[in-house]
Amino acid sequence: MNPFVYNSPVRGKDFFNREAPVTKILKETVRGKSQGSIWITGERQIGKTSLLKHIQSLNDTFEDKVKPYGTDKSLDVAFIFGNVQGCENEDEFYNTLWQGLKDYFDFKLRKTNNGYQNFINAMTEVYIKRKHYIVFLIDEFDAFIETMSYKDAQVATNFLAKLSSLLQEVDEIDEGTKTFSCVFTANHDIKELLNQNHIDNRGSGLIVEALNLKWFTKSQVRGLADLYMRDDDFKFTNKEIDLCYKSTQGYPYFTQKMLSLMYDARKIITDDKQFRNTVKNEFGEMFKDTIEDWGGDKMPIRTLKKLMEMVKKMDLGRSFTAVVMKSLEIYLRTKLMP
Ligand SMILES: Nc1ncnc2c1ncn2[C@@H]1O[C@H](COP(=O)(O)OP(=O)(O)O)[C@@H](O)[C@H]1O
Ligand SMILES: [Mg+2]
Repeated sequence: MNPFVYNSPVRGKDFFNREAPVTKILKETVRGKSQGSIWITGERQIGKTSLLKHIQSLNDTFEDKVKPYGTDKSLDVAFIFGNVQGCENEDEFYNTLWQGLKDYFDFKLRKTNNGYQNFINAMTEVYIKRKHYIVFLIDEFDAFIETMSYKDAQVATNFLAKLSSLLQEVDEIDEGTKTFSCVFTANHDIKELLNQNHIDNRGSGLIVEALNLKWFTKSQVRGLADLYMRDDDFKFTNKEIDLCYKSTQGYPYFTQKMLSLMYDARKIITDDKQFRNTVKNEFGEMFKDTIEDWGGDKMPIRTLKKLMEMVKKMDLGRSFTAVVMKSLEIYLRTKLMP
């Protein structure tokens, strides 16, 4: 059976090499002196959801206590996941956090029709009564901000300002101390998101530590292949790993996809040259279709530029390279139009 995974976030043993970001997230939110928040930027299918789900899975083993800055309280930690991509307004956002808390703590609080009030009720329960510091893992945060500001940029600005102030203290719960942190994931870095949606940076004031999720290096691609093929009786040669890296530049989703193509092809093709041609062609076709499918409005400028750099270095074959470059240039030109 083909061991590679590319259709869903990876979990458990399949979660490969994110030690540095995990360490940074824990330090910033719960292990450091003051409890901060993090903004993780990364392209589509780079591994943002996998990373958040991995942090969420730490709930089973995490024993550190948190002393919120300025208090002598000692609290347990809970990592609470919520995907806010489909949220349309503030109420739905706070209800998503509420639901995450409810799923984890299984409390019996009545749900009101005010999302913010639900959030406050739940936070009071878990912070005061159950003595937990909360780290919210908020997936697809920029999609939510875009939806909100598409209707009204001022509403989005006000929402961000309110959230920033809650991250400092929640008057209804405990004045002068932090009660929760957030780990946001987004395709856009925060500056581009605010710019493109006409949100006033000073007005929103969100204070976050920035973290850019990286693609895999060549030696990590080797490591990933070996990890996933630990039960197989063959290994890819260094030349084959080179081919994978050259074609994907270590972009996590494409790396898994290419390794998967190579895995299937290796089982039926023995001739090296034929193997190379087959997988390069299949990969090029798939890459072109994927980029066309992802294109348009939703792709941040930073991603378009990064993909263009990537395509220049890739070894896709001339016909695919030209087609993909052309699509990317058109998307970029449209984005940059005044
Ligand atoms: N830590 C990882 N280890 C191995 N593969 C990964 C990892 N992170 C991402 N991937 C690959 O990327 C794909 C997309 O991951 P996902 O977490 O859904 O990305 P995102 O949320 O950024 O869109 C996965 O299906 C897998 O192929
Ligand atoms: Mg995701």
